[in-house]
Amino acid sequence: MRVFVAGASGAIGTRLVPQLVDRGHEVIGSSRSAEKAEHLRALGAKPVALDLLDPAAVRRAVLEAEPDAIVHQATALADLNFSRNFDRTFADTNRLRTEGTDALLAAAGEAGVDRFVAQSFASYRTAREGAWVKTEDDPLDPSPPAKARESFAAMRHLDEAVTKAGGIALRYGAFYGAANDGLIEPVRKRQYPIVGDGGGFVSFIHLDDAAAATVLALEHDGPGIFNVVDDEPAPVREWLPVLAEALGAGPPRRFPRWLARLVAGDVAVVMGTEGRGASNAKAKRELGWEPRHPSWRDGFAAAYAPAAPAERRKPQPASQLSR
Ligand SMILES: NC(=O)c1ccc[n+]([C@@H]2O[C@H](COP(=O)([O-])OP(=O)(O)OC[C@H]3O[C@@H](n4cnc5c(N)ncnc54)[C@H](OP(=O)(O)O)[C@@H]3O)[C@@H](O)[C@H]2O)c1
Repeated sequence: MRVFVAGASGAIGTRLVPQLVDRGHEVIGSSRSAEKAEHLRALGAKPVALDLLDPAAVRRAVLEAEPDAIVHQATALADLNFSRNFDRTFADTNRLRTEGTDALLAAAGEAGVDRFVAQSFASYRTAREGAWVKTEDDPLDPSPPAKARESFAAMRHLDEAVTKAGGIALRYGAFYGAANDGLIEPVRKRQYPIVGDGGGFVSFIHLDDAAAATVLALEHDGPGIFNVVDDEPAPVREWLPVLAEALGAGPPRRFPRWLARLVAGDVAVVMGTEGRGASNAKAKRELGWEPRHPSWRDGFAAAYAPAAPAERRKPQPASQLSR
Protein backbone atom coordinates (compact mmCIF):
# COMPACT_ATOMS: atom_id res chain seq x y z
CA MET A 1 0.00 0.00 0.00
CA ARG A 2 0.94 3.64 -0.39
CA VAL A 3 0.59 5.04 3.11
CA PHE A 4 0.42 8.77 3.89
CA VAL A 5 1.59 9.40 7.46
CA ALA A 6 0.73 12.83 8.88
CA GLY A 7 3.09 13.44 11.80
CA ALA A 8 5.66 10.92 10.56
CA SER A 9 8.56 12.73 12.23
CA GLY A 10 7.33 12.37 15.82
CA ALA A 11 7.83 9.89 18.65
CA ILE A 12 5.48 7.30 17.20
CA GLY A 13 5.87 8.25 13.53
CA THR A 14 9.61 7.57 13.47
CA ARG A 15 8.93 4.04 14.82
CA LEU A 16 6.05 3.51 12.46
CA VAL A 17 7.79 4.50 9.20
CA PRO A 18 10.51 1.79 9.33
CA GLN A 19 7.97 -0.86 10.35
CA LEU A 20 5.74 0.07 7.38
CA VAL A 21 8.72 0.00 5.03
CA ASP A 22 9.80 -3.42 6.39
CA ARG A 23 6.29 -4.67 5.74
CA GLY A 24 6.61 -3.67 2.08
CA HIS A 25 4.54 -0.49 2.17
CA GLU A 26 5.50 2.71 0.38
CA VAL A 27 5.44 5.65 2.81
CA ILE A 28 4.88 9.36 2.29
CA GLY A 29 5.57 11.09 5.60
CA SER A 30 4.88 14.66 6.70
CA SER A 31 7.01 17.06 8.67
CA ARG A 32 7.21 20.84 8.85
CA SER A 33 10.99 20.94 9.18
CA ALA A 34 13.66 20.31 6.54
CA GLU A 35 15.92 18.58 9.06
CA LYS A 36 13.23 16.12 10.10
CA ALA A 37 12.33 15.61 6.44
CA GLU A 38 15.87 14.38 5.81
CA HIS A 39 15.54 12.01 8.76
CA LEU A 40 12.31 10.66 7.25
CA ARG A 41 14.09 10.08 3.95
CA ALA A 42 16.78 8.12 5.79
CA LEU A 43 14.05 5.99 7.39
CA GLY A 44 12.76 5.09 3.94
CA ALA A 45 9.84 7.53 3.51
CA LYS A 46 9.24 10.18 0.88
CA PRO A 47 9.01 13.40 2.92
CA VAL A 48 6.34 16.03 2.34
CA ALA A 49 5.98 19.41 4.07
CA LEU A 50 2.57 19.88 5.67
CA ASP A 51 0.79 21.98 8.26
CA LEU A 52 -2.26 19.95 9.21
CA LEU A 53 -4.06 23.10 10.33
CA ASP A 54 -4.10 24.37 6.74
CA PRO A 55 -6.97 22.43 5.11
CA ALA A 56 -6.10 23.55 1.56
CA ALA A 57 -2.53 22.30 2.02
CA VAL A 58 -3.82 19.03 3.46
CA ARG A 59 -6.10 18.54 0.47
CA ARG A 60 -3.26 19.25 -1.96
CA ALA A 61 -0.78 16.98 -0.19
CA VAL A 62 -3.19 14.04 -0.01
CA LEU A 63 -4.43 14.37 -3.60
CA GLU A 64 -0.85 14.58 -4.86
CA ALA A 65 0.28 11.58 -2.81
CA GLU A 66 -2.58 9.36 -4.11
CA PRO A 67 -2.36 7.10 -1.05
CA ASP A 68 -4.26 3.88 -0.35
CA ALA A 69 -4.27 4.65 3.37
CA ILE A 70 -3.78 7.60 5.74
CA VAL A 71 -2.38 7.58 9.28
CA HIS A 72 -2.85 10.61 11.54
CA GLN A 73 -0.08 10.79 14.18
CA ALA A 74 0.21 14.57 14.47
CA THR A 75 0.14 15.90 18.03
CA ALA A 76 1.93 18.66 19.91
CA LEU A 77 2.77 16.83 23.11
CA ALA A 78 6.57 17.05 23.09
CA ASP A 79 8.23 19.45 25.53
CA LEU A 80 4.94 20.31 27.20
CA ASN A 81 4.96 22.75 30.04
CA PHE A 82 2.28 21.33 32.26
CA SER A 83 0.24 24.06 33.90
CA ARG A 84 -2.76 23.88 36.22
CA ASN A 85 -4.86 24.49 33.11
CA PHE A 86 -4.80 21.14 31.31
CA ASP A 87 -6.79 22.44 28.33
CA ARG A 88 -4.34 25.28 27.78
CA THR A 89 -1.43 22.83 27.86
CA PHE A 90 -3.13 20.60 25.28
CA ALA A 91 -4.62 23.40 23.11
CA ASP A 92 -2.41 22.77 20.05
CA THR A 93 -2.95 19.03 20.22
CA ASN A 94 -6.69 19.57 20.57
CA ARG A 95 -6.71 21.54 17.31
CA LEU A 96 -4.76 18.78 15.57
CA ARG A 97 -7.29 16.25 16.90
CA THR A 98 -10.31 18.25 15.73
CA GLU A 99 -9.44 20.55 12.79
CA GLY A 100 -6.52 18.38 11.69
CA THR A 101 -8.60 15.20 11.73
CA ASP A 102 -11.44 16.89 9.85
CA ALA A 103 -9.08 18.23 7.17
CA LEU A 104 -7.47 14.81 6.67
CA LEU A 105 -10.84 13.04 6.56
CA ALA A 106 -12.17 15.53 4.01
CA ALA A 107 -9.09 15.02 1.84
CA ALA A 108 -9.37 11.24 2.26
CA GLY A 109 -13.00 11.38 1.12
CA GLU A 110 -12.10 13.39 -1.96
CA ALA A 111 -9.16 11.14 -2.81
CA GLY A 112 -11.28 7.98 -2.34
CA VAL A 113 -9.07 6.72 0.50
CA ASP A 114 -11.04 4.40 2.76
CA ARG A 115 -8.26 3.22 5.08
CA PHE A 116 -7.70 5.73 7.86
CA VAL A 117 -6.01 5.17 11.22
CA ALA A 118 -5.63 7.92 13.81
CA GLN A 119 -3.93 8.42 17.16
CA SER A 120 -6.23 8.63 20.17
CA PHE A 121 -5.59 8.08 23.86
CA ALA A 122 -6.75 5.44 26.36
CA SER A 123 -6.14 6.29 30.02
CA TYR A 124 -8.35 8.50 32.22
CA ARG A 125 -11.13 8.81 29.67
CA THR A 126 -13.77 6.36 30.86
CA ALA A 127 -16.35 6.91 33.61
CA ARG A 128 -14.73 7.11 37.04
CA GLU A 129 -16.84 4.38 38.61
CA GLY A 130 -16.85 0.59 38.70
CA ALA A 131 -13.96 -1.43 37.31
CA TRP A 132 -10.48 0.10 37.27
CA VAL A 133 -9.73 -1.36 33.84
CA LYS A 134 -12.16 -0.56 31.03
CA THR A 135 -12.86 -1.78 27.50
CA GLU A 136 -13.61 0.20 24.34
CA ASP A 137 -17.34 -0.40 24.95
CA ASP A 138 -17.39 1.19 28.38
CA PRO A 139 -18.88 4.69 28.55
CA LEU A 140 -16.59 7.72 28.48
CA ASP A 141 -16.46 9.99 31.53
CA PRO A 142 -19.67 12.07 31.34
CA SER A 143 -18.19 14.82 33.53
CA PRO A 144 -14.44 15.32 33.01
CA PRO A 145 -12.77 17.87 35.31
CA ALA A 146 -13.62 21.43 34.18
CA LYS A 147 -10.10 22.33 33.03
CA ALA A 148 -9.84 19.18 30.87
CA ARG A 149 -13.22 19.32 29.11
CA GLU A 150 -11.89 20.66 25.80
CA SER A 151 -9.16 18.03 25.68
CA PHE A 152 -11.58 15.19 26.41
CA ALA A 153 -14.00 16.59 23.82
CA ALA A 154 -11.21 16.74 21.21
CA MET A 155 -10.34 13.07 21.77
CA ARG A 156 -14.03 12.15 21.57
CA HIS A 157 -14.35 14.15 18.35
CA LEU A 158 -11.44 12.28 16.81
CA ASP A 159 -12.80 8.86 17.84
CA GLU A 160 -16.27 9.64 16.50
CA ALA A 161 -15.29 11.40 13.27
CA VAL A 162 -12.78 8.71 12.31
CA THR A 163 -15.07 5.76 12.99
CA LYS A 164 -18.03 7.50 11.31
CA ALA A 165 -15.87 7.72 8.19
CA GLY A 166 -15.10 3.97 8.45
CA GLY A 167 -11.63 4.38 9.97
CA ILE A 168 -9.87 3.14 13.09
CA ALA A 169 -9.02 5.16 16.20
CA LEU A 170 -6.18 3.71 18.25
CA ARG A 171 -6.38 4.65 21.90
CA TYR A 172 -2.73 4.37 22.85
CA GLY A 173 -1.43 4.10 26.38
CA ALA A 174 1.01 6.67 27.71
CA PHE A 175 4.09 6.40 25.49
CA TYR A 176 7.50 5.38 26.78
CA GLY A 177 10.69 4.10 25.17
CA ALA A 178 12.30 7.32 23.87
CA ALA A 179 14.96 9.63 25.23
CA ASN A 180 12.48 12.52 25.44
CA ASP A 181 9.55 10.67 27.02
CA GLY A 182 7.36 13.21 28.78
CA LEU A 183 7.61 11.58 32.20
CA ILE A 184 11.41 11.41 32.42
CA GLU A 185 12.19 14.93 33.59
CA PRO A 186 9.36 15.37 36.11
CA VAL A 187 10.05 11.96 37.65
CA ARG A 188 13.82 12.60 37.78
CA LYS A 189 13.23 15.92 39.48
CA ARG A 190 10.70 14.31 41.86
CA GLN A 191 8.04 16.70 40.54
CA TYR A 192 5.52 13.92 39.86
CA PRO A 193 3.97 12.97 43.20
CA ILE A 194 1.75 10.14 44.35
CA VAL A 195 -1.50 11.96 45.16
CA GLY A 196 -3.66 10.69 48.04
CA ASP A 197 -3.68 6.89 47.95
CA GLY A 198 -2.21 6.91 44.42
CA GLY A 199 -5.07 4.69 43.31
CA GLY A 200 -5.68 6.24 39.88
CA PHE A 201 -4.80 3.84 37.04
CA VAL A 202 -2.67 4.46 33.94
CA SER A 203 -2.11 2.25 30.91
CA PHE A 204 1.31 2.42 29.25
CA ILE A 205 2.61 1.35 25.85
CA HIS A 206 6.14 1.06 24.50
CA LEU A 207 6.48 3.14 21.31
CA ASP A 208 7.66 0.13 19.27
CA ASP A 209 4.57 -1.85 20.30
CA ALA A 210 2.33 1.11 19.48
CA ALA A 211 3.86 1.25 16.00
CA ALA A 212 3.42 -2.50 15.47
CA ALA A 213 -0.28 -2.30 16.39
CA THR A 214 -0.67 0.62 13.99
CA VAL A 215 0.68 -1.43 11.07
CA LEU A 216 -1.81 -4.21 11.89
CA ALA A 217 -4.67 -1.71 12.21
CA LEU A 218 -3.88 -0.35 8.74
CA GLU A 219 -4.27 -3.82 7.31
CA HIS A 220 -7.56 -4.34 9.19
CA ASP A 221 -10.99 -3.25 7.95
CA GLY A 222 -12.66 -0.48 9.92
CA PRO A 223 -14.53 1.04 11.53
CA GLY A 224 -13.29 0.39 15.02
CA ILE A 225 -11.76 1.67 18.23
CA PHE A 226 -8.90 -0.28 19.82
CA ASN A 227 -7.03 0.22 23.07
CA VAL A 228 -3.32 -0.17 22.29
CA VAL A 229 -1.95 -0.56 25.78
CA ASP A 230 0.22 -3.07 27.61
CA ASP A 231 -1.03 -6.02 29.68
CA GLU A 232 -0.71 -4.32 33.05
CA PRO A 233 -2.77 -1.22 33.74
CA ALA A 234 -1.64 -0.09 37.18
CA PRO A 235 -2.23 2.50 39.88
CA VAL A 236 0.22 5.38 40.27
CA ARG A 237 1.42 4.06 43.63
CA GLU A 238 2.71 0.92 41.85
CA TRP A 239 4.24 2.18 38.60
CA LEU A 240 5.69 5.49 39.72
CA PRO A 241 8.24 4.06 42.21
CA VAL A 242 9.33 1.53 39.56
CA LEU A 243 9.82 4.29 36.98
CA ALA A 244 11.75 6.41 39.49
CA GLU A 245 14.03 3.45 40.24
CA ALA A 246 14.59 2.73 36.53
CA LEU A 247 15.59 6.38 36.01
CA GLY A 248 17.90 6.37 39.02
CA ALA A 249 15.75 9.07 40.64
CA GLY A 250 14.82 9.39 44.30
CA PRO A 251 11.50 7.91 45.40
CA PRO A 252 8.39 9.89 44.44
CA ARG A 253 6.99 12.38 46.94
CA ARG A 254 3.54 11.85 48.44
CA PHE A 255 1.04 14.73 48.38
CA PRO A 256 -2.32 14.77 50.14
CA ARG A 257 -5.14 15.68 47.79
CA TRP A 258 -5.53 19.23 49.11
CA LEU A 259 -1.88 20.01 48.48
CA ALA A 260 -1.90 18.46 45.01
CA ARG A 261 -5.05 20.46 44.18
CA LEU A 262 -3.28 23.64 45.26
CA VAL A 263 -0.04 22.94 43.39
CA ALA A 264 -1.20 21.06 40.30
CA GLY A 265 -4.96 21.59 40.08
CA ASP A 266 -8.06 19.38 39.98
CA VAL A 267 -7.16 17.47 36.84
CA ALA A 268 -3.99 16.07 38.43
CA VAL A 269 -5.91 15.02 41.54
CA VAL A 270 -8.69 13.32 39.59
CA MET A 271 -6.27 11.49 37.28
CA GLY A 272 -3.97 10.47 40.13
CA THR A 273 -6.73 9.07 42.32
CA GLU A 274 -9.69 8.13 40.10
CA GLY A 275 -8.35 7.59 36.56
CA ARG A 276 -9.17 4.32 34.85
CA GLY A 277 -6.84 2.11 32.82
CA ALA A 278 -7.68 0.22 29.64
CA SER A 279 -7.85 -3.41 28.49
CA ASN A 280 -6.00 -4.57 25.36
CA ALA A 281 -8.09 -7.74 24.87
CA LYS A 282 -9.85 -6.45 21.75
CA ALA A 283 -6.64 -5.42 19.95
CA LYS A 284 -5.09 -8.81 20.70
CA ARG A 285 -8.18 -10.69 19.59
CA GLU A 286 -9.10 -8.74 16.48
CA LEU A 287 -5.80 -7.30 15.24
CA GLY A 288 -3.71 -10.35 16.18
CA TRP A 289 -1.38 -7.97 18.03
CA GLU A 290 0.85 -9.00 20.93
CA PRO A 291 3.01 -6.43 22.76
CA ARG A 292 6.71 -7.27 22.91
CA HIS A 293 6.87 -5.25 26.13
CA PRO A 294 3.85 -6.72 27.96
CA SER A 295 4.47 -4.73 31.13
CA TRP A 296 6.00 -1.40 32.11
CA ARG A 297 7.59 -3.37 34.99
CA ASP A 298 10.25 -4.76 32.67
CA GLY A 299 9.72 -2.16 29.96
CA PHE A 300 10.89 0.84 32.01
CA ALA A 301 14.05 -0.96 33.08
CA ALA A 302 14.80 -2.06 29.50
CA ALA A 303 14.13 1.42 28.09
CA TYR A 304 16.01 3.48 30.64
CA ALA A 305 18.62 1.31 32.33
CA PRO A 306 22.17 1.87 31.11
CA ALA A 307 24.12 -1.13 29.84
CA ALA A 308 26.23 -1.57 32.99
CA PRO A 309 24.19 -2.59 36.07
CA ALA A 310 26.55 -0.60 38.34
CA GLU A 311 25.48 2.56 36.54
CA ARG A 312 21.79 1.91 37.12
CA ARG A 313 21.28 4.23 40.05
CA LYS A 314 23.01 7.23 38.46
CA PRO A 315 20.89 9.67 36.46
CA GLN A 316 21.84 9.42 32.79
CA PRO A 317 22.12 12.23 30.27
CA ALA A 318 19.35 12.03 27.67
CA SER A 319 21.89 11.16 24.96
CA GLN A 320 22.65 7.86 26.69
CA LEU A 321 19.07 6.69 26.97
CA SER A 322 17.89 4.04 24.54
CA ARG A 323 15.76 5.48 21.77
N1 LIG B 1 0.79 10.41 24.26
C1 LIG B 1 0.47 11.28 25.20
O1 LIG B 1 -0.65 11.37 25.58
C2 LIG B 1 1.49 12.21 25.80
C3 LIG B 1 1.11 13.15 26.75
C4 LIG B 1 2.07 14.03 27.26
C5 LIG B 1 3.38 13.96 26.81
N2 LIG B 1 3.72 13.04 25.88
C6 LIG B 1 5.11 12.98 25.46
O2 LIG B 1 5.24 13.74 24.27
C7 LIG B 1 6.27 13.17 23.47
C8 LIG B 1 5.82 12.92 22.09
O3 LIG B 1 4.88 13.85 21.75
P1 LIG B 1 4.40 14.01 20.30
O4 LIG B 1 4.29 12.65 19.64
O5 LIG B 1 3.22 14.88 20.29
O6 LIG B 1 5.56 14.89 19.70
P2 LIG B 1 6.46 14.61 18.55
O7 LIG B 1 7.25 13.43 18.85
O8 LIG B 1 7.12 15.89 18.27
O9 LIG B 1 5.44 14.30 17.33
C9 LIG B 1 4.47 15.15 16.87
C10 LIG B 1 4.26 14.93 15.39
O10 LIG B 1 3.18 15.75 14.98
C11 LIG B 1 3.63 16.62 13.96
N3 LIG B 1 2.96 17.90 14.04
C12 LIG B 1 2.87 18.74 15.10
N4 LIG B 1 2.16 19.83 14.75
C13 LIG B 1 1.81 19.68 13.45
C14 LIG B 1 1.08 20.45 12.51
N5 LIG B 1 0.55 21.65 12.83
N6 LIG B 1 0.91 19.97 11.26
C15 LIG B 1 1.45 18.78 10.92
N7 LIG B 1 2.14 18.00 11.75
C16 LIG B 1 2.32 18.44 13.00
C17 LIG B 1 5.11 16.75 14.17
O11 LIG B 1 5.70 17.03 12.93
P3 LIG B 1 6.73 18.24 12.64
O12 LIG B 1 6.97 18.97 13.90
O13 LIG B 1 7.95 17.56 12.09
O14 LIG B 1 6.00 19.01 11.62
C18 LIG B 1 5.48 15.35 14.61
O15 LIG B 1 5.62 14.52 13.50
C19 LIG B 1 6.64 11.87 24.08
O16 LIG B 1 7.85 12.09 24.73
C20 LIG B 1 5.54 11.60 25.07
O17 LIG B 1 6.04 10.92 26.18
C21 LIG B 1 2.79 12.18 25.35
